[in-house]
Amino acid sequence: MAQVFGRQHVGAIFLAALTIWSGPAVAAPGDAGIPTAELAPHYKGGKEGHAYTRAMLELGMRTGAATTAALRNDPERIKVALRSLREQMVKVGAMVPSWRPYFRTNLIDELESAVTAKADMATRRKIVSRFENSCTNCHARFMFQVQAQYRWGSFATAVVQVGGKELTFHQLMLDLASSLGAVRGDVESGQLTDARAAYQRLMDHFSMMEQLCANCHDQPRQYFIDSSVKAHLYKMGGLLRRGEKQVSEYTPLFNDVNEMSCMPCHQVHMPAAFLQRNALEGKP
Ligand code: HEC
Ligand code: HEC
Ligand code: HEC
Repeated sequence: MAQVFGRQHVGAIFLAALTIWSGPAVAAPGDAGIPTAELAPHYKGGKEGHAYTRAMLELGMRTGAATTAALRNDPERIKVALRSLREQMVKVGAMVPSWRPYFRTNLIDELESAVTAKADMATRRKIVSRFENSCTNCHARFMFQVQAQYRWGSFATAVVQVGGKELTFHQLMLDLASSLGAVRGDVESGQLTDARAAYQRLMDHFSMMEQLCANCHDQPRQYFIDSSVKAHLYKMGGLLRRGEKQVSEYTPLFNDVNEMSCMPCHQVHMPAAFLQRNALEGKP
């Protein structure tokens, strides 16, 4: 159930310089992937958040404090901030041993020496940006995979109850697509009675899909199944009731449903869903 945490907190405190979108960094076949045995213990627990996520957020805050201090002239504050950052790096590094090499503290040493030697700002800035790159490099490779795996909620177990039976997310999608295709096929062949039945199935599947959102989203979402998408579906129903036989009357409505609902929702959810699916298949 609901494994989605408030991304808005996360976004607000995440350093702008580190913000990246790593959507396409999906495991390719043969990709070493992420060390799930080491990560999984840090992704237990519920609403209070996951240990690894919290440790990263803390690392982000301490990085922000330390890099800001390092670009000012306040040697005492710099020392304290760098020490606190170093402690957190060691802590986070120990949580996932395979990734420990990513958390080398040598750049912090370098920054500290530069500050002690009163190096100019350009020199310090360079070290800071090398340090920030060490974060971004790992994020670009692994962050999305970790989030899809542990923080998205599971598409495999998202189900809806229909007449006492469980319908999986995947099956519902296939049903949705076939009923949509069937409406057009039936109109094309002039079978309006069949088209109306297919339309009824389409509407049933669409409302079942709406129930699936609550598997992961606590609050209703504004897009993909909203009233403007539904208005297009109702218009389709109106044409069928009127006995409209011209496929061209329906075509813009099919296109709009695809462009407002199916495709944008796929762009948001499919990378995570398919990454989860591949991870499951990878298991012996
Ligand atoms: C919640 C957003 C969402 C909406 C809205 C949505 N889909 Fe999907 N759909 C998904 C996700 C996620 C998957 C991949 C997960 C899976 O199939 O197990 C998927 C998978 C599919 C698949 C299977 C693809 C494959 O390669 O097996 C089809 C077909 C499909 N959707 C059709 C549709 C159609 C048609 C619509 C619009 C009427 C639609 N979907 C609306 C999220 C959505
Ligand atoms: C070895 C890999 C790795 C390194 C190195 C790394 N991180 Fe992360 N970081 C992650 C992963 C994986 C996540 C996703 C965790 C999650 O969402 O539960 C993450 C998430 C974060 C987040 C939360 C971002 C969000 O929008 O969800 C912050 C902030 C963060 N890291 C800061 C840093 C900083 C600062 C550094 C460098 C000092 C750093 N990280 C180095 C792997 C790494
Ligand atoms: C298996 C989990 C899962 C299911 C099922 C699911 N979503 Fe999402 N969805 C997410 C996650 C995770 C995000 C990204 C983080 C967030 O927004 O919470 C997201 C993002 C979104 C976004 C974009 C950002 C936002 O929060 O507005 C929309 C819109 C959305 N989902 C709508 C839907 C709708 C509509 C359904 C049902 C038809 C649905 N989702 C089903 C997990 C899911």
